[in-house]
Amino acid sequence: MKITCIGHASILIEAERNILTDPYITGDPHSGIRIGELPRIDVILLTHGHGDHLGDTVRIAAEHGSLVVAPVELARLLGRQGVKCHPMNFGSADLGFGRLTMFPATHSSSITENGVPVYTGNPCGYVIRAEGKKLYFAGDTGLMAHMSLLADEALDCAFLPVGGNFTMDAEDAVRAAQIIGARINVPIHYDAMPQITLSPEDRDRLARAGFLFIRPGEKIEL
Ligand code: NI
Ligand code: MN
Repeated sequence: MKITCIGHASILIEAERNILTDPYITGDPHSGIRIGELPRIDVILLTHGHGDHLGDTVRIAAEHGSLVVAPVELARLLGRQGVKCHPMNFGSADLGFGRLTMFPATHSSSITENGVPVYTGNPCGYVIRAEGKKLYFAGDTGLMAHMSLLADEALDCAFLPVGGNFTMDAEDAVRAAQIIGARINVPIHYDAMPQITLSPEDRDRLARAGFLFIRPGEKIEL
């Protein structure tokens, strides 16, 4: 299984089926890959409706024929735009590549239409089980007690937001990593906008706690 950090909260998981999380690519000045350089995307996992996560979903789904997994209300909204969706609501499902569990996140979820926020269900994260590996993609979330439920999962890798303000900051992400106990912790959701810029101290704190920084466009083997 190959993991590429595309940028922000967009992670490409190349396995038997290629999975892409929260594909914010054309809007992200730090994106490590151009949208046309993506391999075949079989599945897109969406954590919530905010623009820096919904991103290029509709375009990629149309070009690749991808299945989009999303909270029910967001799936319904995308379905009306012709996107092939699999709605979930904090259950688990076998989607042909392995088992997927929708996991809670403390955040909000909406899209803005004519300046007004439109509800797009509850925000979430995902536990992804594929090819004998177990990954946790947290999405946008604050530190929460639910994370202790993941301690028994013996996760291979956790993708945790670290930028603060809208999600956990570095200090909370280190606590989350201690609670969750994944073998590898990868920081996401930082530096894309001024409010979530990591200070050198935060970067050190995360590095000392063993977080593995993956540069945009960089690929690791899991
Ligand atoms: Ni958000
Ligand atoms: Mn976000």
